[in-house]
Amino acid sequence: NKLPIEEQAELLPYDKRWEFPRNRLTLGIQLGVGCFGRVVKGEAVGIKDSDGKTAKTVAVKMVKSQTNVAALETLVSELKILIHLGSNLNVVNLLGACTKKITKGELLIIVEYCRFGSLQAYLVNHRSGFINLVDDFGNMRSYNEKGDYMSSSDDDFFEYELKLEENQFQSSQMTNSVENKCQVEMELTGVESEQSYWQYQQDPDVNLNRPITTHDLISWAFQIVFHGDLAARNGSECLLADDGVAKVADFGMARKMYYEVNHEKTGQGLMPVKWMDIESLTDCIFSTQSDVWSYGVLLWELFSLGKVPYPGMDVGHLLIKTIQKGYRMEKPDNAPNFFGDILTICWKADPKERPTFNASYTKINQEKDTAS
Ligand code: ADE
Repeated sequence: NKLPIEEQAELLPYDKRWEFPRNRLTLGIQLGVGCFGRVVKGEAVGIKDSDGKTAKTVAVKMVKSQTNVAALETLVSELKILIHLGSNLNVVNLLGACTKKITKGELLIIVEYCRFGSLQAYLVNHRSGFINLVDDFGNMRSYNEKGDYMSSSDDDFFEYELKLEENQFQSSQMTNSVENKCQVEMELTGVESEQSYWQYQQDPDVNLNRPITTHDLISWAFQIVFHGDLAARNGSECLLADDGVAKVADFGMARKMYYEVNHEKTGQGLMPVKWMDIESLTDCIFSTQSDVWSYGVLLWELFSLGKVPYPGMDVGHLLIKTIQKGYRMEKPDNAPNFFGDILTICWKADPKERPTFNASYTKINQEKDTAS
């Protein structure tokens, strides 16, 4: 079962239980636009989200031109994938769909509204006031009793990660849904794995009007790694919802649906060049290991507080050549050394040397354990 995800998606069924009456949905301002699709804010009366609560403000995806059959097919595929995968905390979840007039090109996909919008934009807007907990040597600082920062060793940092992990698994309900999703995800991608899937969530009391800190960046890095292999390859976007939860949008959407900036037109349509590994760029070989590379780029964006990767370098043959020759971006100053190590291995030229998704963090920890 190794069909590309787009082709597998076409074979999936639509489930009528997701149908939402069009007359109970009102459309509002535009939230985002791609080459072929757009997302608007909406109000859906009586729509239920996965917790059974009534979600009123929603985001609605649609095609830009109703005569674009390919765009419509892509949207249908995305709907089917969203139904098939089920809900997950770190994904912009499906809430419903209006499919009645689909023959006229009017397909509406209703998804969760993420109040804080694009994570990248959020990072840029919160650069001033950012609280950096990483010292000049890349170690995490911690507070002493007086409330002053102190440098801490890597060991403290690993302890901190373990704490994060423990917190996570206190929520057994969520862990279940994570496992469920992973099974389906593996069916779809044909990935064999022994990985333990981790998912990190932020404290619900976190109020994001406070400045962001290194802890937030680390939390988002963990939240996003979890569903990585369906994400970055397709040019998906990270959005920020309430309580600091990072959610991936547009995953499963075919590459052709994606946005113009930083994308180059090739025979394959629009490609997110700055997120792609060497094999994808030169031979169009996409694999789970390509997604590991993309995840590295995403980490770089996170810790550089929303900078565009390869700053000042235009997307084109020169950039591809430079990467091919071995050029890699440096660890952003705000990233703890631990993440610098992750970047290095995510960007190994040989895909086999890259970590496998979800196992990347455990691997690094093990290497550290055996070294000491
Ligand atoms: N922009 C694109 N998708 C969105 C969503 N689900 N919520 C908020 N803004 C968005």
